[in-house]
Amino acid sequence: MKRTVAVFGAGYIGLVTGACLAELGHTVTVRDIVPERIQQLDQGDVPIYEPGLVEMIARNTERLAFTLDANEAVRDAEIVYVCVDTPPTASGDADLSRVFAVIDVLKSASHLTAVVVKSTVPVGTGARIRAALDDAGLGHVGYAANPEFTAEGKAVSDFMHPDRVVVGTWEDATAKLVAELHDGVDGPVVLMDVPSAELTKLGANAALATKISLVNELATVCEATGADITQVAAAIGLDPRIGSHFMKAGLGYGGSCFPKDSRALRALASNNGYPFQLLTSVIEVNELQTRRHVQRLKVELDGLYRKKIAVLGMTFKPGTDDMREAPSAIIAARLLAEGAEVHCWDPMAKAQAVEPWTSTTRHETPLEALGGADAAIIVTEWPELAQVSWAEAHAVMRRPLILDGRNLLDPPTMAGHGFTYMSVGRPTSTV
Ligand code: UGA
Repeated sequence: MKRTVAVFGAGYIGLVTGACLAELGHTVTVRDIVPERIQQLDQGDVPIYEPGLVEMIARNTERLAFTLDANEAVRDAEIVYVCVDTPPTASGDADLSRVFAVIDVLKSASHLTAVVVKSTVPVGTGARIRAALDDAGLGHVGYAANPEFTAEGKAVSDFMHPDRVVVGTWEDATAKLVAELHDGVDGPVVLMDVPSAELTKLGANAALATKISLVNELATVCEATGADITQVAAAIGLDPRIGSHFMKAGLGYGGSCFPKDSRALRALASNNGYPFQLLTSVIEVNELQTRRHVQRLKVELDGLYRKKIAVLGMTFKPGTDDMREAPSAIIAARLLAEGAEVHCWDPMAKAQAVEPWTSTTRHETPLEALGGADAAIIVTEWPELAQVSWAEAHAVMRRPLILDGRNLLDPPTMAGHGFTYMSVGRPTSTV
């Protein structure tokens, strides 16, 4: 059955959720508090880059509206989706003020059938929202936790073809309603209670972050012993109990999810009197990863003071314009702190009017950024970098030194071009 849905929050998750629910045939109104964002969306302009999203929004305009007005969004809605952000507070707890601001708006919406929270929240949030709804006389309105497991850059396809749709509820009718809302989605719906659904989200991201830190630690051991992490990880990953995904060594994870969620889960455990030591190590390994590789460059160049370094790639991963918690920011800031001159390139990152970027020079092409450089560090594995004419790059650089922080390029080929080619967890190649 097709439903009428109000989605609160027009960020990455809200826009993708709204567009995908409209694609599934539901009537959706997406509400945001930022006027420019709604204006842009009304003009058919999508403020974030997500493959397939522009097209999906364009083909569902009949069923998809955008508004600044919360009451307008809720007026005809049967279901409200909460997709607002929950940034960390000073204590590391999630700031739930935006979530509860939405719940406040709903207090007179007795016509609703269910409230569904997609925002990442600590365990126990659902129970608090349930109590707030009950206090407002909305005991008949169902509640569901429906965490998202979509990755940026493939959010639309992850929504439509998920590994699982997790629906946490306290009552069967709401479970059925939210499950049915996903009719047409190609993946299993897993029903559970609300706290379990809330923890599943944090637990899934902790598991993935742990895999990345494990492979990064193994890579460091590889560097110390002459082994090659790409060969080691590929062979380890053939065991289906381990799996080959998220086994790429690099400069560590960034983005809006893993750093925030791993810290949030650690804080949740600490707040409950449990020191989550494994997660603490996962976070520490990740933080060390960027610094450790800047240090490698420093040793190789005999100091970074007044050295010209090209930083290739700024976004936290390719295929997105997202700079949140990008390793590139730490790398650029560290290089500047060592007195280096930093020249950057990225095909999608929006202009950054904050430090460290304001102290760096941005270039249109990788070759421009490489001109006169003493070294280059590949921070994001943009496919464009595999297409660079490295022979030409060798000719324009002052010193032929590359630190490939994502193991994007082929060591013998790079050595063949005359580079000293360092990477993560692989032996250094030279001519
Ligand atoms: C991540 C999860 O993959 C999603 O399942 C989850 O829904 C989402 O967080 C979320 O909580 O909202 P995302 O942050 O978009 O998605 O990006 P990923 O593709 O998972 O990459 C995260 C970081 O890990 C990137 O910086 C990437 O470079 C790094 N990474 C990933 C590695 O260093 N090695 C790998 O093998 C894989």
